[in-house]
Amino acid sequence: LFVVVLAGGISHERDVSLRSGRRVADALAQAGHRVELLDPDAGLLPYLAERRPDVVFPALHGSSGEDGSLLELLAALRVPTVGSTGAAARRAWSKPIATSLVAEAGVAVPESIVLSHEAFRELGAASVLRVVRDALDGDLVVKPASGGSAQGVTIVEDPTELPRAMVDAFTYDDVAVVERRVVGTELAIAVVEDDGAPRALTAVEIVPSTGVYSFQERYNAGETTFFAPCRLDADSVARATEAALLAHRTLGLRDLSRVDLIVDDAGTPWFLEANVLPGLTETSLVPLAIEASETDAASVYDALVRAAIS
Ligand code: DAL
Ligand code: MG
Repeated sequence: LFVVVLAGGISHERDVSLRSGRRVADALAQAGHRVELLDPDAGLLPYLAERRPDVVFPALHGSSGEDGSLLELLAALRVPTVGSTGAAARRAWSKPIATSLVAEAGVAVPESIVLSHEAFRELGAASVLRVVRDALDGDLVVKPASGGSAQGVTIVEDPTELPRAMVDAFTYDDVAVVERRVVGTELAIAVVEDDGAPRALTAVEIVPSTGVYSFQERYNAGETTFFAPCRLDADSVARATEAALLAHRTLGLRDLSRVDLIVDDAGTPWFLEANVLPGLTETSLVPLAIEASETDAASVYDALVRAAIS
């Protein structure tokens, strides 16, 4: 098949996407497809009209890819595309929307407060601190309402650092989420539909050397230790896997996603987020999960590409 892999784009995760795209393109070429790698810009539409690919594989992270806008454009052009629809991507991309839908489905999510930049300015730092303290105990995690690769995310142990953390989050989104930090084992569970129904791959346990899975810890080899399979007991893994599949289905995701969770000491999985176009770089979690699941990237991506046109 003639497959166009989209990578790059305009987002805070442009460089990550370029790395993911290269890996996907290599894997698909290895599976025998004719592959072109394209950095989408204003030339995308004429390119697609002229080249008429059989399938597009968007390896785009962050806004434009994961926010659903480009996916909706591809759907309007009737280009077969791997991955979720624009509408589903939009749901998952917004952390407040995703967490409330997944909570509604019965999965635990950390208690949180959602605050716009506007409200933050109007209330002022002191009032915001009071509101947050009244609602949430212990350490906090502050994040932009949408975003990826932990950009704009801060763990707040000292409450006086909250305003600063929120200002950081607002550089990525007009809305910030402040949530209770759940302590436990961090897991990433990839969900693939390479064989029809969604199935979860081997859960990957994340142990960053600094204790925080930040941008550095994500994309520099050796900064994080991964365990695949994870070291949790079978029952906790089964519960986390069930929660990941439920989140994937609840958000209406398709083909491929990665659900990030924390499993607490009682074995309860807490949903953090679902990634519509998860990182596929050489240090990313999904390729690790694929390897640990005794399959290989070429066959998984090949199956997704074939499914997209069937
Ligand atoms: N947002 C990055 C690419 C990830 O989820 O892996
Ligand atoms: Mg993410």
